[in-house]
Formats: sequence, C-alpha cells, structure tokens
Amino acid sequence: MSMLAEHIDLQAYNSFGLAVNARYFTRAQTLQELQEAVAFARANSLPMLLLGGGSNVLLRADFPGLVILMALRGITEAQGPAGTVLVSAAGGEPWHEFVQHCLARGLCGLENLALIPGCVGAAPMQNIGAYGVEVKDFISDVKVLDIGSGAIETMSNAQCAFGYRDSVFKGALRGQKIVLSVTFALARGAAPNLSYGALADALSDKGAAVSAQDVFDAVCAIRREKLPDPKVLGNAGSFFKNPVLCAQDFARLQQAHPALPSFAAPGAAGERKVPAAWLIEQAGWKGRQHGGAAVYEKQALVIVNRDHATAEDVVSLAMAIMASVQARFGVRLEPEVQWIPALETPLV
Ligand code: EPU
Repeated sequence: MSMLAEHIDLQAYNSFGLAVNARYFTRAQTLQELQEAVAFARANSLPMLLLGGGSNVLLRADFPGLVILMALRGITEAQGPAGTVLVSAAGGEPWHEFVQHCLARGLCGLENLALIPGCVGAAPMQNIGAYGVEVKDFISDVKVLDIGSGAIETMSNAQCAFGYRDSVFKGALRGQKIVLSVTFALARGAAPNLSYGALADALSDKGAAVSAQDVFDAVCAIRREKLPDPKVLGNAGSFFKNPVLCAQDFARLQQAHPALPSFAAPGAAGERKVPAAWLIEQAGWKGRQHGGAAVYEKQALVIVNRDHATAEDVVSLAMAIMASVQARFGVRLEPEVQWIPALETPLV
C-alpha cells in the first residue's frame, strides 16, 4: 500500500469543504495499492470509504475507518460495434477532463455532461445526468473490484441497473464493489442531444449546424451561470433528487398549485418528475442561511458552504427543508448527495 496516514483532515477531499477527520487515509494510484488498502481495512475490520472527487458526499462526522483516495488514471480506446469507439477511463480520471478528451478526439455524446465535478468512477454509481443526457446512455460496461472476494469483474450496462440518479452500486451491491474503470461507447460526429429546453434555446441561433463543441460550450455557460463552482463556494451539486410523483399525487399537487412545473418521467404511465428546486423555492428557502450553510441564491436545489459550515449546519438545514416541503406540499424529498454515515444512522 502507498503511504498510510492517520488522523487526516478531509476538508480538501470533499467539495462541501467540511472539516472532518479520517482515522486512516491512503491514496491508491495503482490496482495493487488499491488491493493492499482493501486488505488492510479487512484485516483490521475497519469501515472503508472510497473518495474520488468527494463531490457527492456529505461527511456528517469523523470517519472511524480507512479513507481510500481513488487515484487510478489512464484512458484507452478500442474499436466497438457498429462504428462506435469504446473508450475506457480509469476510475480516478477527473470527469470534466475526460469529457474534454473525448471531444478533442471527435467522440461525441458526453458533451452535455460537461463541468460535472468528480471522477469517472463515481459516474456510474449515481448515473450522473444533466441537460438531457444520463451517463447510462453511453456506458458499455464497468470494471469493478469485488471487495469481499478480491475478484475483478466486468458488469454490463444492464447489470448496473441504472435509474434516475441510481444504480445497483447504491442499492443491492452497496459497499461491495469498487469501480476500477468505465467503458463508454461513443460515436464520431453523432447528432447533438438538444432535448433539454434551455440548451436548445441557448443554441437556437445556430440553426441546424450545432456541433458537439457548441453543446459543450453552451452547457459550460449555463452551469457557470446557475451552479456555484465548488472550488469557490463549497457544495455538492443538487442536494436532493427531483421527486417522481405517481399520476394521482401529481394531479392533486397540480390542482393545489397550478404553476407547478413538471417533466415526463420514464417510469410507470402518468408519472411526472417535479423540480425539487421549485418546491424548495416556493417554501421560502432560497438564499436562507442556517449557521454556515445556505440555500444557493441562483439554484434552490443546491446547499452551499457559505461561511465555515459544519456538517451539523448542513444536516439541520437539509432536515428543515425536507420537513417544510413535506408540510407544505406533502412531498418527501430524498437526498441526492450520499450521507456518510447514512441518513438513518444516528450519530453517537
Ligand atoms: N427551479 C426553481 N427554482 C430554482 C431553480 C429551478 O423553481 O432556484 C425550477 C424551474 O422551474 C426550472 C426547474 O426547476 O425550470 C429545473 O431547474 P434546472 O434546469 O436548474 O434543473 P434541476 O431539475 O434543478 C437537474 C439536475 C442537475 C442538472 C440539471 C440540468 C437533479 C437532482 N439535478 O436539476 O444535476 O444539472 O437538472 O439537467 O436531477 C446534480 O445532480 O448535482 C445536478 C446539478
């Protein structure tokens, strides 16, 4: 294993910038270092936490086990079926740089997912998505390390059971696999995806001649306008998922609130996705501060570290928002950010 450090402050390793400590900390730059780190944790019965960019976690307390910083790097290319190119990227590759790499090679599809913070390895975990695209649309397979057996396995797209901000890695296989690399099936010169209204609007002056680079530039511009840069203002992107309501619940809510925006949901007939940001804003939370944590002024779905927030500040603000949206709209918000330890686990 590479160097094992003790009592490390994780502030620089989580995009919220919360100051919590790890009992043990190591960086895995090779598969062997990763395997040795996993063996150390297992031999000492330590809980393990794998961090990539740390951009989708809420570290609620000091971590009593081993934090492994995923630092596997490398990108390879192979010919895929039907003229596609299979691009494999190691889990520790920074996501946005990977998107830029593909664009520079003329490989299209991921440009809608530009500027998402974090690493490639986290992308399948939560099935990252933005501006009309979910990463599952381009994932061919995922190579994982099974923590229990030490085996290296390849999981197909179907085996990953992708859903909206969801995968088998967050469900049935939670805590059992480490993503080593992801293989994407990309095409040269594919037609751009302009299904997201605000993106199509931003590119309307280009007519039919919209390139992948145009989409990339427009997505970057929209994100810079709406979302805070975690390097400047700590945050973990959308804090909650957009709730998906059944036809009945949606009809009830829409009747009470005719201005309620909604989007088609891919699930059962009549299901609608409603923007959590709208519910939170209508409940009066936009811009409100609680301790050092606040609801971002330009996007109510984002909680920011405004002023030396503690984990407790973020947690109590999030809980207050959930209670208020439940009381006002009868809708239960579900966190999108992974809470460590989990929301249900009381802190001792
Ligand atoms: N809205 C408000 N108030 C706000 C912001 C938005 O009422 O402060 C309403 C508006 O009606 C707007 C709608 O919410 O039309 C949707 O807003 P936006 O386009 O900003 O997207 P979102 O639904 O809030 C989702 C993703 C983002 C992704 C964008 C763009 C989730 C949990 N979040 O946000 O993903 O970038 O769509 O596709 O699905 C992330 O996961 O970290 C993330 C940033």
